[in-house]
Amino acid sequence: SSESGEHDVVVIGGGPGGYVAAIKAAQLGLKTACVEKRGALGGTCLNVGCIPSKSLLNNSHIYHQIKHDIKQRGIEVDNVRLNLDQMMAAKDKSVKGLTGGIEILFKQNGVDYVKGTGTITGENEVKVKPIDGGEEISLKTKNIIIATGSEATPFPGLEVDEKKVITSTGAIALTEVPKKMIVIGGGIIGLEMGSVWSRLGAEVTVVEFLDAIGGPGMDADIAKMAQRILGRQGIKFKTSHKVLSGDASGEGVKLEIESVKNQKKDTLEADVVLVAIGRRPYTEGLGLENVGIETDERGRIIIDQEYRTKHENIRVIGDVTFGAMLAHKAEEEGIAAAEFIKKGYGHVNYGAIPSVMYTHPEAAWVGQSEQEVKASGKEYVVGTFPFLANSRAKTNLETDGMVKFIADKETDRVLGIHIIGPNAGEMIAEGVLAIEYGASSEDIARTSHAHPTLSEAFKEAAMATYDKAIHA
Ligand code: FAD
Ligand code: NAI
Repeated sequence: SSESGEHDVVVIGGGPGGYVAAIKAAQLGLKTACVEKRGALGGTCLNVGCIPSKSLLNNSHIYHQIKHDIKQRGIEVDNVRLNLDQMMAAKDKSVKGLTGGIEILFKQNGVDYVKGTGTITGENEVKVKPIDGGEEISLKTKNIIIATGSEATPFPGLEVDEKKVITSTGAIALTEVPKKMIVIGGGIIGLEMGSVWSRLGAEVTVVEFLDAIGGPGMDADIAKMAQRILGRQGIKFKTSHKVLSGDASGEGVKLEIESVKNQKKDTLEADVVLVAIGRRPYTEGLGLENVGIETDERGRIIIDQEYRTKHENIRVIGDVTFGAMLAHKAEEEGIAAAEFIKKGYGHVNYGAIPSVMYTHPEAAWVGQSEQEVKASGKEYVVGTFPFLANSRAKTNLETDGMVKFIADKETDRVLGIHIIGPNAGEMIAEGVLAIEYGASSEDIARTSHAHPTLSEAFKEAAMATYDKAIHA
């Protein structure tokens, strides 16, 4: 095999964790390579996750709005038709532009982009099998950062063909709108992709094991409201139902489900079934066994506070290890890991990582949910404000949703902020900053917010936490 000169850092995986770590390491003056086997940079997020799903969510929303919500605004539009091929082409264009952009950033920062599958063969060596089939490359390195991400958790007995039985990867690439779609799992992927296909005309049923949708972390009040709003948009929900088994041998797909409450069984049929029951760490072919690195019972690579494995020079970030499986979380860790290598210190505030569900309206939150605060035993106060009482939401004819604050009863320090409503994903940034700075709800309520904006609902929910809101 051929050899290149020694690197300071070799990053395995070119997703949000890996590419950011590689750029930061290079910016810090370290000789850095990034190994990626997909043929494009950006990982799950840019290629088959965040970016393509948001493109489809945005454009399917515009289509749906023109079809169902435009007349009341005084706009008459006739003959609205879906051009799914064009919608997919617009998505592909966004993806291509962004993944190509990272390649340019690599060049600008002097990161060596190695296209192939990386395998750790020793504490200081990564061997790469190039995707073009060329000769194996040996990269000698002082440090390794593992950022190999995650993959969809399969549903036992239902083989994914990405046509009839799909994961999110198939759900961003269907070539026609299915008549009936069943989504297994009412978490973020299920609700986002279920929304896309429901808006485009599919009859969508979401089967969720728990008694609430939204996946782990969503505040119960927000989850309830989300279910009501999405239900009104036409998505059917079967909460407290478990999918027992599936059969895709016929023309469509049959699922056997069971009520968690009374064990009553039922059969559902659909043209397409989306499996969205979570994601699991991806370490196939990585060679962890060559260096004795262990994973936990859920497949996550075990690390310490500085992202180190049992080998001090091998660090791990992103979906393949602990914590929320979110792109911005992986990016923060990428920067911190590079800084640890160069400077010996780095930091991520895990208490201030926002979550956003890009349905319409969006749901967004940061900090603890009410059920988490309750479980901690801390005394707390809650303040809420409905968008129905917000002037901008009213003029926009988008009044679904609310802002909810949870603060420490004694100190008024903000513990959690939960929003469901128009533009919640942008609005939550103010909440993240509040938590990062250790703000009290009164700090926020006494900060001037422009009128008329949706963010006044944010201010008033803060006010309602220690005092009374003006407009509610
Ligand atoms: P990944 O992005 O998975 O990247 C890992 C990369 O490593 C992959 O490209 C893989 O090909 C490569 N790789 C693996 N093994 C090797 C090897 N041995 N050699 C070379 N290369 C290798 N998060 C958000 O924050 N916001 C969203 O809106 C959002 N939407 C999502 C929508 C969907 C449909 C999905 C599936 C996920 C979404 N996520 C979202 C989650 C987000 O995509 C992940 O949290 C993020 O991509 C994790 O980054 P990562 O760098 O850890 O791993
Ligand atoms: P998830 O963990 O969010 O939700 C999975 C849901 O499936 C859970 O509610 C679970 O109770 C349910 N479930 C599991 N087995 C079931 C069964 N047999 N029958 C019925 N229900 C069952 O996982 P999801 O939605 O697959 O997403 C994976 C991760 O991807 C997310 O947790 C998130 O980290 C990331 N993501 C983030 C997005 C964002 O930030 N906007 C968008 C999409 C994905």
